[in-house]
Amino acid sequence: MEQKIGFGIDVGGSGIKGARVDLTTGEFIGDRIKILTPDPATPAAVADTVRQIVEKAGWDGPVGITLPSVVREQTALSAANIDPSWIDTPVGEVFGDVLPGREISVLNDADAAGIAEARFGNPRAARGSVILLTFGTGIGSAFMVDGTLYPNTEIGHMIVGSKEAEKYASSAVKKKKDLSYSTWAARVTEIMAEYERLFWPSLFIVGGGISRKADKWVPLLDIRTPVVAAELRNRAGIVGAAMAVTDHIRP
Ligand code: BGC
Repeated sequence: MEQKIGFGIDVGGSGIKGARVDLTTGEFIGDRIKILTPDPATPAAVADTVRQIVEKAGWDGPVGITLPSVVREQTALSAANIDPSWIDTPVGEVFGDVLPGREISVLNDADAAGIAEARFGNPRAARGSVILLTFGTGIGSAFMVDGTLYPNTEIGHMIVGSKEAEKYASSAVKKKKDLSYSTWAARVTEIMAEYERLFWPSLFIVGGGISRKADKWVPLLDIRTPVVAAELRNRAGIVGAAMAVTDHIRP
């Protein structure tokens, strides 16, 4: 089979990472390139870092890029955990300016993780109504039906009880408050029970760095819907970004 190769970049709070992706297997080709996220992480500074990664990789094709933000019609509309100057930034243009003449697709980081998981991760991610949640600095979400994405769902910002979900149950909160897995899992149960009550997916998939320790907390969750850990781990953002631009998915 012909090898189809894409290039994805995942823009995170601490690092910006890019790699060539084999789109028949979901594996990286060559090394992942990482540059520390500039501070302040303004659109211009991040765009320049993205350009450096692409240059370093010697890649001259289309580039997919994730952002921890709502991206509608290639404009960033929110900035919960990133520099506020991203709001209303025409990100397609900003990245297009530093990478002229190529196809660019910018999408939400959790959405990228969702489509990557549906194609290359747990086979159950591609069947039926699935909600993938990423636990990190915030809580990201991707809604999919039979692997097709409904973008920009942002349920990490849902108010559950009197609290915003991600301010109550992200893995950053666990770390900051030094919560045990059982205390934190009880919080995650509260918010996932509310998601379940409203959306009734057939499956939840949990991702983000803390999904590496899934055995310590997923069994403690007490909801009716099955919950499984994402399989792609920290590859998901880059792979989903490369898939998006190659498949011309441009939310
Ligand atoms: C942002 C989302 C993002 C999530 C994970 C949230 O604070 O609003 O857009 O997907 O964090 O990074």
